[in-house]
Amino acid sequence: MSQGTSGSTKLMLIVWALAMIFIGFKALNAPSSDSSHSETMVDNTVLERIKPVGEVRIDNNTQVASAESVETEERSGEEIYNSKCAGCHTSGVMGAPKYASLEDWAPRVDLGLEKLTLSAIAGKGGMPARGTCMDCSDNEIKVTVQYILDSLE
Ligand code: HEC
Repeated sequence: MSQGTSGSTKLMLIVWALAMIFIGFKALNAPSSDSSHSETMVDNTVLERIKPVGEVRIDNNTQVASAESVETEERSGEEIYNSKCAGCHTSGVMGAPKYASLEDWAPRVDLGLEKLTLSAIAGKGGMPARGTCMDCSDNEIKVTVQYILDSLE
């Protein structure tokens, strides 16, 4: 009887020990799995914080760049004429056809805007290429020639 009792007590102890090992194992595992969760959460929040900043900077740069390039391309014919062409075309030096002089321009008007623009870009006689406006685009020269032609009406 006593043998049987001690046998069942031993079995109880073994079951208890296994239960404690199992509980202890779970308890040890629990915090480590928690901490790995919080580490990935920190990684995600850091990534989320960095990502929008990078995107905003890229957007701002491209917007600033495109705004600047639009500004430099938008010069009016009047602006270019006054700064680059008036020196010759207002006084008529070297036989330059004068601004607002229909008499001077009469022989040339028939060439039309396109051909006048081409000879202004290439240069002609005492007329330097692009009328000395080397940073003028072809279209800016055209707009300026149009500005001169508008003065004849
Ligand atoms: C250094 C003086 C000078 C400047 C600066 C100048 N021109 Fe002229 N331009 C002339 C002369 C001289 C002629 C006449 C050329 C000829 O017919 O032999 C002329 C002719 C022209 C003609 C007529 C071309 C043709 O086919 O008959 C146009 C258009 C013209 N200029 C536009 C301009 C414009 C636009 C500018 C400014 C961007 C400009 N010029 C600046 C001297 C100048």
